[in-house]
Amino acid sequence: MPKNIAAIILAAGSGTRMKSETPKVLHTVCSRPLLTYVLDLAQELKVSRTAVVLGYKHEEVGKFLKPGNLAAVQKRLLGTADAVKTAMPLLKGFKGTVIILYGDIPLLKKDTILKLIKRHAENNADVTLLTAELDKPDGYGRILRDKYSCICGIIEDKDANDFQKGIKEINTGIICFKKDKLADALKYVKADNRKKEFYLTDAIGILHKKGCIIESVKTADIDESLGINSRLDLSRANRIMQRRINERLMKDGVTIVDSDSAFISYGTKIGRDTVIYPFTVIERDVKIGKRCMVGPFAHLREGTRLGNEVTAGNFLEIIRSSIGNKTFAKHFCYIGDSRIGSSVNIGAGAVTANFDGRKKNVTVIDDHAYIGSDTILVAPVKIGRRAVTGAGSVVLKNRNVAEGSSVAGVPARLLKIKR
Ligand code: UD1
Ligand code: MG
Repeated sequence: MPKNIAAIILAAGSGTRMKSETPKVLHTVCSRPLLTYVLDLAQELKVSRTAVVLGYKHEEVGKFLKPGNLAAVQKRLLGTADAVKTAMPLLKGFKGTVIILYGDIPLLKKDTILKLIKRHAENNADVTLLTAELDKPDGYGRILRDKYSCICGIIEDKDANDFQKGIKEINTGIICFKKDKLADALKYVKADNRKKEFYLTDAIGILHKKGCIIESVKTADIDESLGINSRLDLSRANRIMQRRINERLMKDGVTIVDSDSAFISYGTKIGRDTVIYPFTVIERDVKIGKRCMVGPFAHLREGTRLGNEVTAGNFLEIIRSSIGNKTFAKHFCYIGDSRIGSSVNIGAGAVTANFDGRKKNVTVIDDHAYIGSDTILVAPVKIGRRAVTGAGSVVLKNRNVAEGSSVAGVPARLLKIKR
């Protein structure tokens, strides 16, 4: 791991082009805020300091920082150079390389950054840029090279002339600087451009004029450079990250029948030989055991825990519930705030009515119980071990069904048969 690296993460912008109340860096890709991806990256790189620049709705964004992260608030959003300037006091006493990361670039991989840092160190460069070659470079800053092919500046899309717009090599925004060169260049950045902002990218031209060594690394995978500025970018990033997540799960032994229609959140744990059928949505904080069958058309929401060999079949929704081994819920169900044991059979159309209009209540179903089709369990309620509810029964709240007994009807009454 590289030593003497500090990261500055820019996350102050409001994200005008998102047209949203939510700060841009809190928009999610595969159920995770953009900023979290970048904070994780800094953590994985084991940088010695991480300074995050907050601005728009800084209190809300600040809640996502990790222990040990330092934060500075940029009072007026005057541009990326001004943002970096705001962070510099947090690097007081630090000597070494500063890597700039943007809070709106979630798909970067650690190895790419390591390559960048390595090139920077090996060449004893003053600046090393991560660039990418894009067929459609619109919106990005373009890399300017002189007749010797050396980088001599960056021109922002808005300020570029037709020739410059034709340049396909772009600035990903990820840049390594020697700290003292960065501090020096920041003094000279002016807001003489169409947006009237202080662009960090102007630091490149400034340092070139001073005779500094400017190096670059080109990303092999252009997806990594995707900066999220609009909802369209967000949707693209989702698709790319989803592919990565699904490929990782498949490598680990999960069958995903149709990767294009399996929407699985970042960090979802799924055991071997589980099969995910098409059109399944798995939200954050879900764990699935081995040899389960999920979907088609299943919606597993936060707090879902499936044991091993569970069937969570077509058209069902599960939230904040744990389901034991070998339990079947094969068709049309709603299971919310429930603790369900093992080898339970949940018939088609069964519903745990967990919300009484004011609060959520818990349903408990013990091992080997049999919940008839179309049963409604009005929570809080408990169904005992090996108990049975008849098709269409409505079990009222607190009318717990004792172990081994059977109930049926509306409201459900005890039947005189024992199982
Ligand atoms: C920026 C780069 C561009 C590059 C692109 C890569 C500049 C001037 N331009 O453009 O060369 O190709 O990223 O995606 O740097 N921010 C602040 N404070 C500010 C302004 C921005 O913290 O005052 C933060 C934003 O929250 C964001 C990041 O800086 O995380 C980049 O800002 P953004 O407005 O998205 O810049 P781009 O137009 O994408
Ligand atoms: Mg951007």
